[in-house]
Amino acid sequence: MTSTAQPPPASGARSARPEHLGHVIFITAAAAMGGFLFGYDSSVINGAVEAIRDRYDIGSGTLAQVIAIALIGCAIGAATAGRIADRIGRIRCMQIAAVLFTVSAVGSALPFALWDLALWRIVGGFAIGMASVIGPAYIAEVSPPAYRGRLASFQQAAIVIGIAVSQLVNYAILQLADGEQRGEIGGLEAWQWMLGVMVVPAVLYGLLSFAIPESPRFLISVGKVDKAKQVLSEVEGKNVDLNARIIEIDHAMRREHKSAFKDLLGSRFGFLPIVWVGIGLSVFQQLVGINVAFYYSATLWQSVGVDPSSSFLYSFTTSIINIIGTVIAMVLVDRIGRRPLALIGSTGMAIALALEAWAFSADLVDGKLPETQGIVALIAAHVFVLFFALSWGVVVWVFLGEMFPNRIRAAALGVAASAQWIANWAITASFPSLADWNLSGTYVIYTVFAVLSIPFVLRYVKETKGKALEEMG
Ligand code: GLC
Repeated sequence: MTSTAQPPPASGARSARPEHLGHVIFITAAAAMGGFLFGYDSSVINGAVEAIRDRYDIGSGTLAQVIAIALIGCAIGAATAGRIADRIGRIRCMQIAAVLFTVSAVGSALPFALWDLALWRIVGGFAIGMASVIGPAYIAEVSPPAYRGRLASFQQAAIVIGIAVSQLVNYAILQLADGEQRGEIGGLEAWQWMLGVMVVPAVLYGLLSFAIPESPRFLISVGKVDKAKQVLSEVEGKNVDLNARIIEIDHAMRREHKSAFKDLLGSRFGFLPIVWVGIGLSVFQQLVGINVAFYYSATLWQSVGVDPSSSFLYSFTTSIINIIGTVIAMVLVDRIGRRPLALIGSTGMAIALALEAWAFSADLVDGKLPETQGIVALIAAHVFVLFFALSWGVVVWVFLGEMFPNRIRAAALGVAASAQWIANWAITASFPSLADWNLSGTYVIYTVFAVLSIPFVLRYVKETKGKALEEMG
């Protein structure tokens, strides 16, 4: 096989329904366990914050740092996962993440000091960052093109299910501890159980990774062509001309000669333009303030007059809406395409956010919004999550998994995901001060980002629906 070989046509891979779709779905679901842990780990801490504040007797500022520090771990994990995946393979990378998730769960559940807890949260964050890169990259690489959008959206589905399950588990643990985060169950406090329970999905993730094949693109890159052929026949079906597919993939990878961070660099703008588009998608996904809706939901519910004791119920409602929106996106992503979904989502989010900005501009009465504004804020918050979930939530992870050329995929995805974690950190860490300054003004800022995301998509984002990965770039 030489680099001068002309790429043959994509050998029917685009249209055929693979005979082994069930197997491909299993592989995808197993890889998406990393997404489940991503959602679970990033949201589980919400149930434990008050106990941590109380146990270590710290102020809000220190508490916010202990929580936000995990996001820095995420950014580093995302930035390094691509290189690890290119060196030792996608599966080994998943196994490292699974081990880190496991030790972080045990360490965070049994800390002997605050710094120790922070350290384990960084380790967990590092694992989340890795999972956020390796899931979409691997799933895109094993999916037949016609199903890739739907299969890649398993990652986001797993993230949102992880968020919902962590809320339920936290609630169940709290009930066992008579509603006290520091209440004791079998020698440990409730909040320690909340953080420790993650051992279960972490170990499952590790075990499942042994049951799924290495990505054919990685196998080809290390010269294991026979093994790659076998995996391709498992996932794309026997009717596909395997030799032609191997040549096509090999050719596409050689076209981009080397695979290193410096290959992401272009001459004029630092990174290659395509890498900037990935970073833009990532950053806009966060700048609309989605995680404010998840991490600070209790603040919102209380300002519209919901009793703190029922705020669990309302946060869980948000999660259910998040799941419904994700399912809608999974149905639509391969039918109407990624770009139209993103544009519909931006429009819906901009309207909902503007309504929230309006509602929060009213003067508070006894610390609450007036009735009409309260209702508008509540409905708009749900509409916002629905539009996010049916668009940017799914579409960004699908795009990031598939939009980069083969040779730079893992590294480029790492950079884009890392930017996403930094943006996530910037938004969630700045929210408390911004909210103190002006809650309505804060929502105006998020509205502006939702509006700006529209020309960004129109101008820079290309549709990837139905194309083979070898055609990207
Ligand atoms: C996406 C975002 C993540 C967010 C989640 C909410 O996965 O990347 O930050 O928490 O959606 O559903």
